[in-house]
Amino acid sequence: MTVQTAGRRMRRGVEIQDRIGSSRKEDTAARALEGLLGSDKHISSEFFYDRHGSRIFEEITRLPEYYLNRTEKELIAEAGIRFADGLCGADIVELGSGDSSKISIFLGRASRGARASARYLPVDIDRSAIERSARDLKQNYPELRIYGIAADFSGGLEALPPPERRRVFCFFGSTLGNLLRPAALELVRRIAGSMREGDEFLLGLDMVKEKSILERAYNDGAGVTRRFNRNILKVVNALAGTGFDPAKFRHLAFYNKREARIEMYLEAREQMTVSTPLLKDDIIIREEERIHTENSHKFTKRHIEEISSYAGLDIAGIFTDKRKWFSLLWLKKKALK
Ligand code: TRP
Repeated sequence: MTVQTAGRRMRRGVEIQDRIGSSRKEDTAARALEGLLGSDKHISSEFFYDRHGSRIFEEITRLPEYYLNRTEKELIAEAGIRFADGLCGADIVELGSGDSSKISIFLGRASRGARASARYLPVDIDRSAIERSARDLKQNYPELRIYGIAADFSGGLEALPPPERRRVFCFFGSTLGNLLRPAALELVRRIAGSMREGDEFLLGLDMVKEKSILERAYNDGAGVTRRFNRNILKVVNALAGTGFDPAKFRHLAFYNKREARIEMYLEAREQMTVSTPLLKDDIIIREEERIHTENSHKFTKRHIEEISSYAGLDIAGIFTDKRKWFSLLWLKKKALK
């Protein structure tokens, strides 16, 4: 794995390690195409987040229907009253950092001294999102050191510098819910495995609730989520030279109550044949055939207990809103006996 540290036009105190740019484009393209060949078509949600996708997702977070972001930010502000100075001298690792607007709430509540002694390590699959957020954070908090890692979650955890100080892990946005349940359990266990006594983990989870509220959050009136969903085809086109026409797909998002998750698909309006220089066979899509693009699992108190006990973490606190729509878990590494 080549590690590139970009000094170019980067401010002092900002470093970015790139584990995406160094992987071969053909390998990435092959991974994107993999799910389009058989029946049960799917595109992995990692392909949502190119430069445009990240921006559209930021638009989603500002939608009136998308209560997740607003609710979680309130909880973070509340938790920040108790926590902010706990960031003092810590490495703050944020998985799926996006625009970093959530950590910014914490940082804003800490003293300048606490910020100056902390280091922020955003991990995101979109390098451009890290660059932008690092620039914004540096503007507000010039004393903060930033070490970004452009990688998926697994690669990001591997690329973390060895722990020399206390660490606070953050995983917001109910992004954990975008993994299948077993994979989510494993990821939390893995994070817990790299935590040492005294380390903390803030985990934001969207809770099970009425179907209509959930479905509205993923079917907004302005069509931003539809644009986001369709953008994944443009990402695949750019990677694999496929000629998908996003307008030929319907955006579909509905709640699967049995699995307690929102499922998202792109449904073909008509039959189509798509070719790519990377495959000798064409990709054939039938009329009304669906391409699965995302799951967003919702959580209950029982899930929360299962996750923390499976990972061997103590629940030090749960912040939740009046309607109990969202939960911010404050987890701690159990003391070794
Ligand atoms: N973590 C977000 C969620 O599950 C991701 C998300 C929100 C999303 N809206 C989306 C992913 C629309 C794909 C499409 O809520």
